[in-house]
Amino acid sequence: MSVDLKSLVIAIDGPASSGKSTTARLIAQKLGLMYLDTGAMYRAVALKIYRTGIELTDKAALQKMLESTKVEQFCTDDGVHFSLDGDDVSEAIRTPDISLWVGPVSEHGMVREYLVEWQRAIGRNGGIVADGRDIGTVVFPAAQVKVYLNADAHVRALRRQKELFARGIAQSAEEVEEAIVKRDHRDSTREHSPLSKAADAVEIDTTHLTVGDQVEQVLALVRKLVPNLALR
Ligand code: CDP
Repeated sequence: MSVDLKSLVIAIDGPASSGKSTTARLIAQKLGLMYLDTGAMYRAVALKIYRTGIELTDKAALQKMLESTKVEQFCTDDGVHFSLDGDDVSEAIRTPDISLWVGPVSEHGMVREYLVEWQRAIGRNGGIVADGRDIGTVVFPAAQVKVYLNADAHVRALRRQKELFARGIAQSAEEVEEAIVKRDHRDSTREHSPLSKAADAVEIDTTHLTVGDQVEQVLALVRKLVPNLALR
């Protein structure tokens, strides 16, 4: 089977800090495809709920809020950014508080319905690399390349701690590990679209891999489908 790069869908799933976003962003860059960070969408909706104080049990208010909310992803010289109703929230969505809030928000059926619809609309024509928890299982089950990234929880915690530190947030490795293990458990055991490896996904353990190694392993899967792959 050979696939046209412009119609290719690459789905990258996995637990917190397994390397999904970094890998997906670099693959998209190298192949000239669109990158979609679905976790940022859930985080942006969680931020809006956090700021507005809407109760998740208030279905009417939640629906009204979702209908009038605009989450957009855009690129600048310093990377991928996200806006919520026109405001750049790239930093605000990555705080430990929002990492806690996103759990109950992302397991809400109505929130998922809305976001999955947005994500499918964005990827309708293919030419996309998307990362999340349910990309290969629910959002794009027909994706031609499916990857499930995983890594040892302690190593993932150290990566997240470093990321937070770079943004001026100091937390102990134990604290970070506890939070991501809890979030993974919540994501994996929820009723709607739990985090799981699609039966046809290739699992890559990134515990001992460099980012370059991860990217190479995914590109090797793409090369099997797209002959004469030209990288940027
Ligand atoms: O960066 P990290 O891997 O920690 O998380 P993220 O990709 O930013 O996603 C944040 C949270 O959004 C996850 O813990 C999930 O609860 C939720 N999420 C989801 O339910 N489905 C997705 N496709 C993506 C994220």
